[in-house]
Amino acid sequence: MKALIAAGGHATRLRPITYTTNKHLIPLANKPMIFNAIEKIVEVGVREIYININPGEQEIQRYVGDGARWGVHITYVEQTGGPKGLAHIIKNAEGFLRGEPFLFYLGDNIILGSLRRFVEQFQTEQLDCMLAFAHVSDPQRFGVPVIENGKLVRIEEKPSNPQTDLAQAGIYIYSDSIFTAVNAIEPSARGEFEISDANTYLIAKGYKVGWQEITGWWKDTGKPEDLLEGNQLIMDELHFADGTKDAMIGPKVRIQGRVKIGKGTVVWDNVLIRGPVVIGENSSIRESYIGPYTAIGNHCTVENTEIEHSIIMDNAQLNAGTRIVDSIVGKNARITSTKETLPLGHKLVVGDNSQVEV
Ligand code: G1P
Repeated sequence: MKALIAAGGHATRLRPITYTTNKHLIPLANKPMIFNAIEKIVEVGVREIYININPGEQEIQRYVGDGARWGVHITYVEQTGGPKGLAHIIKNAEGFLRGEPFLFYLGDNIILGSLRRFVEQFQTEQLDCMLAFAHVSDPQRFGVPVIENGKLVRIEEKPSNPQTDLAQAGIYIYSDSIFTAVNAIEPSARGEFEISDANTYLIAKGYKVGWQEITGWWKDTGKPEDLLEGNQLIMDELHFADGTKDAMIGPKVRIQGRVKIGKGTVVWDNVLIRGPVVIGENSSIRESYIGPYTAIGNHCTVENTEIEHSIIMDNAQLNAGTRIVDSIVGKNARITSTKETLPLGHKLVVGDNSQVEV
């Protein structure tokens, strides 16, 4: 089995971060989000992975490389003409995928646990298509299955009146018959080749479509709060053995719970770290409280700050003199205290499409 990961798109709802960083490279628990997708795919034995990218993309290749670090082979496929829907991504990669079943994985979906039972069902029932559904509170944001008398009849894309609270998760397994479907469907009202229409086509034409409900997955990382939730979910799955052995930890530092600190990072003076927390390499933490579900990147400086449930990306400098919660701080960003530079008050340089809560 091969795999195709969707890693294109523009992620406008995550601006300003996505002006400079591809959404799929935003770190969750200090790892680019797309690594999570790759690891899940590798875990079920796939060795040949294709990644769909925007035309001209270079950043993803730089971070992900050729797959050698996971012992797999990764090929990048530019989506001709840019984003035109998920079914178009499959159409666009047809030449690479024909001849073998493949797993289609939306790179911005965080799925916890193993994909093994989906693959097993696809294989034992000799399916053409395997779908994964999950209960959500806002099904109108997703593809929604219509199930009548226990039988799957179609998938409706973002229905205004969803008939269930089930949503199509961003993981699919297909046989070659999906190419017939993606080449038969027309663009939807929003101008996209919808994956839900391709799946409905397979159901209508009598192909073997199986499905399973999954638990513990998280919708695509559409909004900043989804990123923080993803960060939290992944940290809950991590096991840190000897997590602080490579760091330099001063005598007054208190570390509680599951904490991982990278090589070359110095933690000194009065610091309390309460896990789960991940801190990258060559950072410096001083006179601060780092609370649960905080991920701090490489080459960061944190001083005189209390921080909790936040994502701090590489090279950020924090000297806030106050408490920061539920925040996402981009690369090279600086947060300083006005106590150092009177007058007191909020002094902001806020980029386009940023959101600040004071
Ligand atoms: C896409 C699909 C939708 C699916 C969702 C899962 O939606 O069109 O059917 O439920 O991914 O993340 P989009 O993220 O493009 O809004």
